[in-house]
Amino acid sequence: MKILLLGSGGREHALAWKIAQSPKVEKLFIAPGNAGTGEVGENVNIKATDFAALGAFALEESIDMIVVGPEDPLVEGIYDHFQSNPCLKNIAIIGPSKEGARLEGSKEFAKEFMHRHHIPTARYQSVTADTLNEGLAFLETLEAPYVLKADGLCAGKGVLILPTLEEAKKELKEMLGGMFGNASATVVIEEFLSGIECSVFVLTDGDHYKVLPVAKDYKRIGEGDKGLNTGGMGSVTPVPFADEVFMEKVRTRIIEPTVNGLKAEGITYKGFIFLGLINVKGEPMVIEYNVRMGDPETESVMLRIQSDLVELLEGVAEGNLDARSLVIDPRTATCVMMVSGGYPEAYQKGYAINGLEAARATDSILFHAGTAMKDGQAVTSGGRVLAICSYGNDKADALAQCYKEADMIDFKDKNYRRDIGFDL
Ligand code: AMP
Ligand code: GLY
Repeated sequence: MKILLLGSGGREHALAWKIAQSPKVEKLFIAPGNAGTGEVGENVNIKATDFAALGAFALEESIDMIVVGPEDPLVEGIYDHFQSNPCLKNIAIIGPSKEGARLEGSKEFAKEFMHRHHIPTARYQSVTADTLNEGLAFLETLEAPYVLKADGLCAGKGVLILPTLEEAKKELKEMLGGMFGNASATVVIEEFLSGIECSVFVLTDGDHYKVLPVAKDYKRIGEGDKGLNTGGMGSVTPVPFADEVFMEKVRTRIIEPTVNGLKAEGITYKGFIFLGLINVKGEPMVIEYNVRMGDPETESVMLRIQSDLVELLEGVAEGNLDARSLVIDPRTATCVMMVSGGYPEAYQKGYAINGLEAARATDSILFHAGTAMKDGQAVTSGGRVLAICSYGNDKADALAQCYKEADMIDFKDKNYRRDIGFDL
């Protein structure tokens, strides 16, 4: 099979690493990829949202399957674009239709979907400039802190959590006034839920589903979950509180109503569903849907999938996922992200990365996120630079291996969190 994977981060290197291990794969391309994906497949210099160029490339190379890493191509309708072209419609796309991608692309759509299917989530009200007064009145019914979410995609920055009613009212007006451009023309106001979060990944062919290893990610730059939000500083799988009892509730109250709800509404969805969940005193509730895998959760999750991922993806494409097996490694896997100094604010790029060869000789697995090759030398080219992933018999064991590795790798101003998994 010839596969084209879209994206260029650590998530995509982890997916490429796993896909490339499959005996079913004849050739793997990654568009646009990074220095790491180039080691397990062939990078192609096409943007993940350039559908015309992707279509032409897919025909030229007789691609059988496209695996979509990030959300943008899905929200922009890559599935529908390929379906509408008779020459491209037989290429399997792993990812939902444009309508299905609204679960991530529109917070209002996601909340309404959950409401229709009785899926547990925070109480909410959706407002626009025309219904501002209703929004302000709804805020009065809530207790601090207050959660405001821009309806559309904002590269992870569209959620504000405000400590006082005054600030919430002020920010609501600013969001509706264009703080995030058109993405905040509609704002979802939510009740604040308190608990510990986890990421549940589901693979579905539209009828059947498989639950991949549950992970927890660490979004803040600082230890103890302090400071600014980042794209993710590390991850751990499994998550001890996501035990059999909790997961049974997740399956019956959330996953099955989601998969069945999509089907009942005639929404084509063959791909990954990422449930951002919060455990409120033992009860799972949905914080958000994403229509792709998480980053940096994928980096640790891929380590624990023992089965052939391509065999599973083929099941998604053919609609017989129930006939495919998913075997999960019982060990713990952890990911520690090495980032550029200054990130998530301004940072420098182009610093030489040393120690990669020595690190390669260890048991850890290194995924590239923001790296590039310059005159044969790996250099930093992004905020998140490298994802160091390790197995262990437990969390401490796996993390000790990641940190040993983080000491071996060097680039100017390197930074990483030393407390990944601290709250588990
Ligand atoms: P989202 O983009 O919807 O995942 O929101 C970003 C982050 O804001 C989440 O990962 C949570 O930590 C937090 N958050 C979002 N909604 C809520 C809520 N209703 N209650 C508490 N925290 C929330
Ligand atoms: N790790 C969270 C995300 O990928 O959105």
